[in-house]
Amino acid sequence: MTFSVLLASLLCYGSLVQCYNNRIVEDLLNVIFKLKNSKGYGGGQTSIPAFTATLSKDLTPPVNQIIIFDSVKTNIGGHYSSSTGVFTSPRNGLYMISATMRSTASKHLHCELWVNEAMKEKIFGTNLSTGTVNAVLQLKTGDKVFIRKDHRSGEGIIGRDWSMFSGYFIA
Ligand SMILES: *[C@@H]1O[C@H](CO)[C@@H](O)[C@H](O)[C@H]1NC(C)=O
Repeated sequence: MTFSVLLASLLCYGSLVQCYNNRIVEDLLNVIFKLKNSKGYGGGQTSIPAFTATLSKDLTPPVNQIIIFDSVKTNIGGHYSSSTGVFTSPRNGLYMISATMRSTASKHLHCELWVNEAMKEKIFGTNLSTGTVNAVLQLKTGDKVFIRKDHRSGEGIIGRDWSMFSGYFIA
Protein backbone atom coordinates (compact mmCIF):
# COMPACT_ATOMS: atom_id res chain seq x y z
CA MET A 1 0.00 0.00 0.00
CA THR A 2 1.43 3.36 -0.99
CA PHE A 3 1.62 6.27 1.40
CA SER A 4 -1.01 8.16 -0.57
CA VAL A 5 -3.46 5.24 -0.53
CA LEU A 6 -2.94 4.94 3.22
CA LEU A 7 -3.60 8.64 3.72
CA ALA A 8 -6.67 8.53 1.49
CA SER A 9 -8.00 5.57 3.50
CA LEU A 10 -7.45 7.41 6.78
CA LEU A 11 -9.19 10.53 5.47
CA CYS A 12 -12.35 8.63 4.55
CA TYR A 13 -12.38 6.37 7.61
CA GLY A 14 -15.84 6.26 9.21
CA SER A 15 -17.71 7.98 6.43
CA LEU A 16 -19.22 6.00 3.56
CA VAL A 17 -20.13 9.15 1.64
CA GLN A 18 -16.60 10.48 1.81
CA CYS A 19 -15.23 7.11 0.75
CA TYR A 20 -16.95 7.67 -2.57
CA ASN A 21 -14.39 10.42 -3.11
CA ASN A 22 -11.51 8.15 -2.12
CA ARG A 23 -10.16 8.01 -5.66
CA ILE A 24 -10.10 11.78 -6.03
CA VAL A 25 -8.25 12.24 -2.74
CA GLU A 26 -5.84 9.50 -3.79
CA ASP A 27 -5.19 11.18 -7.15
CA LEU A 28 -4.56 14.53 -5.49
CA LEU A 29 -2.15 13.02 -3.01
CA ASN A 30 -0.29 11.30 -5.84
CA VAL A 31 0.11 14.63 -7.60
CA ILE A 32 1.44 16.26 -4.43
CA PHE A 33 3.84 13.36 -3.94
CA LYS A 34 5.19 13.59 -7.47
CA LEU A 35 5.70 17.34 -7.16
CA LYS A 36 7.60 16.92 -3.89
CA ASN A 37 9.78 14.10 -5.23
CA SER A 38 10.64 15.98 -8.41
CA LYS A 39 12.69 18.44 -6.34
CA GLY A 40 14.99 15.62 -5.24
CA TYR A 41 18.01 16.15 -7.48
CA GLY A 42 18.10 19.92 -7.61
CA GLY A 43 15.43 21.02 -10.01
CA GLY A 44 13.52 17.98 -11.18
CA GLN A 45 14.28 14.46 -12.33
CA THR A 46 15.24 15.58 -15.83
CA SER A 47 18.39 17.20 -14.43
CA ILE A 48 19.88 13.86 -13.31
CA PRO A 49 22.99 13.28 -15.47
CA ALA A 50 22.13 10.29 -17.64
CA PHE A 51 22.97 8.88 -21.05
CA THR A 52 22.23 6.00 -23.39
CA ALA A 53 23.92 5.53 -26.75
CA THR A 54 24.03 2.65 -29.19
CA LEU A 55 26.27 1.63 -32.04
CA SER A 56 24.52 2.22 -35.34
CA LYS A 57 26.89 0.28 -37.62
CA ASP A 58 28.84 -2.96 -37.38
CA LEU A 59 32.44 -2.34 -36.46
CA THR A 60 35.80 -4.11 -36.38
CA PRO A 61 37.73 -1.67 -34.21
CA PRO A 62 41.52 -1.48 -33.99
CA VAL A 63 42.95 -2.83 -30.73
CA ASN A 64 42.79 -0.67 -27.59
CA GLN A 65 40.48 1.81 -29.29
CA ILE A 66 37.60 3.56 -27.51
CA ILE A 67 34.27 2.43 -28.94
CA ILE A 68 32.21 5.36 -30.15
CA PHE A 69 28.51 4.72 -29.61
CA ASP A 70 27.23 7.17 -32.19
CA SER A 71 23.45 6.90 -31.85
CA VAL A 72 22.51 8.92 -28.79
CA LYS A 73 19.14 8.08 -27.24
CA THR A 74 19.46 10.01 -23.98
CA ASN A 75 22.02 12.61 -22.95
CA ILE A 76 20.72 14.65 -20.03
CA GLY A 77 23.25 17.37 -19.32
CA GLY A 78 25.22 16.47 -22.46
CA HIS A 79 28.02 14.70 -20.58
CA TYR A 80 28.36 11.86 -23.09
CA SER A 81 30.21 12.72 -26.28
CA SER A 82 29.15 10.91 -29.44
CA SER A 83 32.34 12.09 -31.16
CA THR A 84 34.75 10.58 -28.59
CA GLY A 85 32.58 7.89 -26.94
CA VAL A 86 33.50 9.27 -23.50
CA PHE A 87 31.16 10.08 -20.61
CA THR A 88 32.66 12.79 -18.41
CA SER A 89 31.35 12.80 -14.85
CA PRO A 90 29.82 16.23 -14.10
CA ARG A 91 29.88 15.84 -10.31
CA ASN A 92 31.21 13.67 -7.51
CA GLY A 93 28.98 10.76 -6.63
CA LEU A 94 27.74 7.29 -7.28
CA TYR A 95 26.98 6.28 -10.85
CA MET A 96 25.44 3.24 -12.53
CA ILE A 97 27.29 2.39 -15.74
CA SER A 98 26.28 -0.40 -18.14
CA ALA A 99 27.30 -1.70 -21.52
CA THR A 100 26.21 -4.57 -23.71
CA MET A 101 28.24 -5.67 -26.73
CA ARG A 102 27.20 -8.17 -29.37
CA SER A 103 29.79 -10.31 -31.11
CA THR A 104 29.85 -11.07 -34.83
CA ALA A 105 29.16 -14.63 -36.01
CA SER A 106 31.58 -17.42 -35.07
CA LYS A 107 33.96 -15.05 -33.29
CA HIS A 108 34.87 -13.93 -29.82
CA LEU A 109 34.58 -10.33 -28.69
CA HIS A 110 36.51 -8.79 -25.81
CA CYS A 111 35.93 -5.23 -24.59
CA GLU A 112 36.57 -3.39 -21.35
CA LEU A 113 35.03 -0.69 -19.18
CA TRP A 114 37.56 2.01 -18.27
CA VAL A 115 37.63 5.00 -15.93
CA ASN A 116 40.48 7.34 -16.87
CA GLU A 117 43.65 5.15 -16.89
CA ALA A 118 42.08 2.21 -15.07
CA MET A 119 40.33 -0.83 -16.46
CA LYS A 120 37.31 -1.75 -14.26
CA GLU A 121 35.45 -4.64 -15.87
CA LYS A 122 35.67 -6.93 -18.90
CA ILE A 123 33.01 -7.80 -21.46
CA PHE A 124 32.94 -11.02 -23.45
CA GLY A 125 30.61 -12.09 -26.20
CA THR A 126 30.79 -14.89 -28.76
CA ASN A 127 29.11 -15.95 -31.98
CA LEU A 128 26.23 -13.45 -32.14
CA SER A 129 25.78 -13.45 -28.36
CA THR A 130 26.13 -10.47 -26.09
CA GLY A 131 28.31 -9.68 -23.13
CA THR A 132 27.29 -7.15 -20.49
CA VAL A 133 28.96 -5.11 -17.77
CA ASN A 134 27.16 -3.35 -14.96
CA ALA A 135 29.16 -1.21 -12.58
CA VAL A 136 28.21 1.01 -9.67
CA LEU A 137 31.13 3.42 -9.57
CA GLN A 138 32.14 6.25 -7.30
CA LEU A 139 33.25 8.97 -9.72
CA LYS A 140 34.81 12.38 -9.26
CA THR A 141 34.02 15.44 -11.32
CA GLY A 142 35.85 15.16 -14.65
CA ASP A 143 36.41 11.39 -14.52
CA LYS A 144 36.25 9.86 -17.98
CA VAL A 145 34.27 6.64 -18.51
CA PHE A 146 34.37 4.67 -21.75
CA ILE A 147 34.27 1.24 -23.39
CA ARG A 148 37.47 0.13 -25.04
CA LYS A 149 38.40 -2.73 -27.35
CA ASP A 150 40.99 -4.90 -25.64
CA HIS A 151 44.34 -6.02 -27.14
CA ARG A 152 42.92 -8.83 -29.33
CA SER A 153 42.71 -7.93 -33.00
CA GLY A 154 40.19 -8.80 -35.70
CA GLU A 155 37.13 -9.01 -33.45
CA GLY A 156 33.85 -7.57 -34.66
CA ILE A 157 31.02 -5.79 -32.88
CA ILE A 158 27.47 -5.86 -34.16
CA GLY A 159 25.91 -2.41 -34.30
CA ARG A 160 22.39 -1.72 -35.57
CA ASP A 161 21.37 -0.93 -31.94
CA TRP A 162 22.53 -4.34 -30.66
CA SER A 163 25.41 -2.82 -28.69
CA MET A 164 24.97 -0.04 -26.15
CA PHE A 165 26.58 2.11 -23.47
CA SER A 166 24.55 3.71 -20.73
CA GLY A 167 24.86 5.40 -17.36
CA TYR A 168 23.23 7.64 -14.80
CA PHE A 169 23.93 9.51 -11.60
CA ILE A 170 22.49 7.73 -8.55
CA ALA A 171 23.31 10.09 -5.67
C1 LIG B 1 27.65 -20.19 -33.99
O1 LIG B 1 26.26 -20.32 -33.76
C2 LIG B 1 25.60 -21.03 -34.77
C3 LIG B 1 24.12 -20.94 -34.50
O2 LIG B 1 23.82 -21.39 -33.20
C4 LIG B 1 26.14 -22.45 -34.82
O3 LIG B 1 25.51 -23.18 -35.84
C5 LIG B 1 27.65 -22.41 -35.07
O4 LIG B 1 28.18 -23.68 -35.00
C6 LIG B 1 28.34 -21.52 -34.06
N1 LIG B 1 29.74 -21.35 -34.42
C7 LIG B 1 30.72 -21.56 -33.57
C8 LIG B 1 32.09 -21.31 -34.10
O5 LIG B 1 30.54 -21.91 -32.43
